[in-house]
Amino acid sequence: MAKKTPALRSAQWFGRDDIYGFLYRSWVKNRGVPQDQFDGRPVIGICNTHSELVPCNSHFRAIAEHVKAGVLEAGGFPLEFPVMSLGETLLRPTAMLYRNLASMDVEESIRANPLDGVVLLVGCDKTTPALLMGASSVDLPSIAVSGGPMLSGKYRGTDIGSGTNTWSMSEDLRAGRITLKEFHEAESCMHRSHGHCMTMGTASTMASMVEALGVGMPGNAAIPAVDARRNVLARMAGRRIVGLVGENVTLSKILTRQAFENAIRANAAIGGSTNAVIHLIAIARRIGVDLRLEDWDRLGRGVHCLVNLMPSGKYLMEDFYYAGGLPAVLRELGEAGLLHKDALTVNGATIWDNNREAPCWNRDVIHAQKKPFKKNTGIAVLRGNLCPDGAIIKPSAATPELLRHRGRAVVFESIEDFHRRIDDSALDIDETCVMVLKNCGPKGYPGMAEVGNMPLPPKLLKKGITDMVRISDARMSGTAYGTVVLHAAPEAAAGGTLALVETGDLIELDVAKRKLQLLVPEKTLAKRRAKWKKPKPPLTRGYWKLYVDHVLQADQGADLDFLVGKSGAFVPRDNH
Ligand code: FES
Repeated sequence: MAKKTPALRSAQWFGRDDIYGFLYRSWVKNRGVPQDQFDGRPVIGICNTHSELVPCNSHFRAIAEHVKAGVLEAGGFPLEFPVMSLGETLLRPTAMLYRNLASMDVEESIRANPLDGVVLLVGCDKTTPALLMGASSVDLPSIAVSGGPMLSGKYRGTDIGSGTNTWSMSEDLRAGRITLKEFHEAESCMHRSHGHCMTMGTASTMASMVEALGVGMPGNAAIPAVDARRNVLARMAGRRIVGLVGENVTLSKILTRQAFENAIRANAAIGGSTNAVIHLIAIARRIGVDLRLEDWDRLGRGVHCLVNLMPSGKYLMEDFYYAGGLPAVLRELGEAGLLHKDALTVNGATIWDNNREAPCWNRDVIHAQKKPFKKNTGIAVLRGNLCPDGAIIKPSAATPELLRHRGRAVVFESIEDFHRRIDDSALDIDETCVMVLKNCGPKGYPGMAEVGNMPLPPKLLKKGITDMVRISDARMSGTAYGTVVLHAAPEAAAGGTLALVETGDLIELDVAKRKLQLLVPEKTLAKRRAKWKKPKPPLTRGYWKLYVDHVLQADQGADLDFLVGKSGAFVPRDNH
């Protein structure tokens, strides 16, 4: 039984002997809760993103039950509540449009309710940042529990990975290398269990970030969704959150600058998704850490990719777990002096205490720092007249020969323009060209869609071309690959130089020098700028309007400007 703590926040609701105490307790008792649950024990919210519209989180009812069991075992009182859930596969136009909306739901649901601590159930890409952003703005003791990756896809004797092989098979179909029957068969083979994408895409990256930040339990990143040990982790998180409340370890004591720096290096070491850049900056700005684009470039330099996982390599998350998972990677980073070893984690130990003896069982899956899978693979932050506020590229997913390239721009004014023209055999394009896509940034799309890895023209695919330089203000799926420059800021729809590029202009990319330059004289650009007209947003009311009016650029995490920072757990104007 947890000790009665008068300072518990929930006592403002359940610890009262007046009319309000009556109504707070009485209504909760309507499902059979006995009086002793209101004796001053910590009330733990289980923030659930279960939804049948979010296939990656469809097993979260079961996970929540394991968290509840842990909370009860530790003497807490669990109360599960739903929040808006976001799935990558079904939501239109893009789940990212709603990340900030979901974070508002999470923030207000936590603050407005009688909670002392929270367990955040996260899985599909945007659910992790949305819940961490919302929880950061309240700053109660919090633990994130990821739902875990799906089992490896199995197709005709080979492993196939979500997203990564979707892209490659779609290109094979377009190039006539596979039949429609084979394409349909692969659909059934790819996703065969509960869980999120099992490549090192955004969901697996963010689950790894949860562990590297110390806001999840050790092992959080990779235990498969259907492995019994995922349930054990959920149960242990349920037990531990009660202790965190007792120790008053709020989220801001975990999410420190050191924690974010550890996560950035871990992201480089796992060949993680470019989406982590936006999400971590957004979370940091909520909790009060001034994390910038430059931090990614500075901290990622000299960090090698240790993990041979799709999309950068060949294995999948299940292999990663059996090989040792993120603890084996964190140990390598720590031994190389690339970890803030004292960073506190939610289990009460430091990140180094948790990982210093982590074993590695397969060096083909998790390489040693001395013999990395790929060298120097941190996110590169580019600057130049095309992106004065920055753009990023993931060198580990790019073709090395294209990392220094000068080519003729072929411009697509919007994603619709791209779809209209890309299959046209008359399109004037060859493999030396630079494909430029505009108006797919935070305001332009709106929601900053994952369309930056534009499919190549079929006529070049048929020639055997597999990669070209592509530039946009969009994002890219964490499961995708290629020499793709993303997140150009300011975006085209905000009047960035990207809006002024015309087909035929020369563009120079030099990743080693961190440069992205439109080779057009400033005078010409000024004339084009004078003629430029801001594109009209597709909807001008409701949440879409709120979003377009207030969304920040990618370099600032694409949060809504009025959501940056935190209000804390205090409820103003509480007249009860
Ligand atoms: Fe949910 Fe990939 S679709 S993680």
